[in-house]
Amino acid sequence: MPDNSNPTIPVFLTTPEGKPQQLLQLSPSNFTPVGALDVRPSLLFTEEDNPGQIDDALLDFSLQAIHEARKIDLSEISARISAEMIKTPNTWPGQHYKLLAAMVKNLQPKLVIEIGTASGYSCLSLKKNLPAEGKIVTFDIVPWKEYPDVVLTEADFADGRLKQQIADLTQPHVFNSFSKLISQADFMFVDAAKDGVMEQTFLNFFETVKFEKPLFIFFDDIRLWNMLSIWRQIKRPKIDLTSFGSWSGSGVIHWIP
Ligand SMILES: C[S@@+](CC[C@H](N)C(=O)[O-])C[C@H]1O[C@@H](n2cnc3c(N)ncnc32)[C@H](O)[C@@H]1O
Repeated sequence: MPDNSNPTIPVFLTTPEGKPQQLLQLSPSNFTPVGALDVRPSLLFTEEDNPGQIDDALLDFSLQAIHEARKIDLSEISARISAEMIKTPNTWPGQHYKLLAAMVKNLQPKLVIEIGTASGYSCLSLKKNLPAEGKIVTFDIVPWKEYPDVVLTEADFADGRLKQQIADLTQPHVFNSFSKLISQADFMFVDAAKDGVMEQTFLNFFETVKFEKPLFIFFDDIRLWNMLSIWRQIKRPKIDLTSFGSWSGSGVIHWIP
């Protein structure tokens, strides 16, 4: 009879020579060596052989955003969140919301595209410092009014600078119908399913867009297991800003058409 009282799981990695090598043996005593509100598995790997390396514009953009994020107050968004929920928008570092607001403040974009509205924390953060002539188009497959714990109100849309599009951008014909709009973006925030496929689909579609100018594209959750390979394989200039963004990973691509 096998002894199942103390189950262990071997964890393997692939060596640079392509051979499997046992990394560790997970047992109940080290399944989660850290306890926290939310705990996810991830991996560490070298930066030297990353196919997408940082460039000067991305480094300047990042440093200026970090500097600005210190001064940003998102208490008004946190105040909209019900008492039993965690008030994440003003958590920084650790959450990406102040960094988003800082990037918009520094860029002064005319058009921001968001994929993944959800309850609205990020689009309100993007709107915080949006210039008077700026616009945000936020995509989701769920209308904001139907999203659980939504913090958006009709008033957020009243000035016409924030608009939601209900569209599944993984469908080629749907994406193509918004390709012209997306080509005009100055900044994008991508925060959708992280199912290991969807974000790669978006990246593939972005390659087909005739962007009018260079832009920065911010991907959330790049350290989640399902995002590791997708983020790693991006060959464009990019930076992992996790220490100044979301604990689950914040990455920015400098997309030069
Ligand atoms: C993690 S939530 C977004 C959180 C939000 N950006 C924030 O930081 O407050 C992911 C959202 O992506 C949406 N989504 C899933 N698939 C999508 C798709 N194909 N196109 C657009 N949005 C999608 C989900 O409905 C969900 O609202």
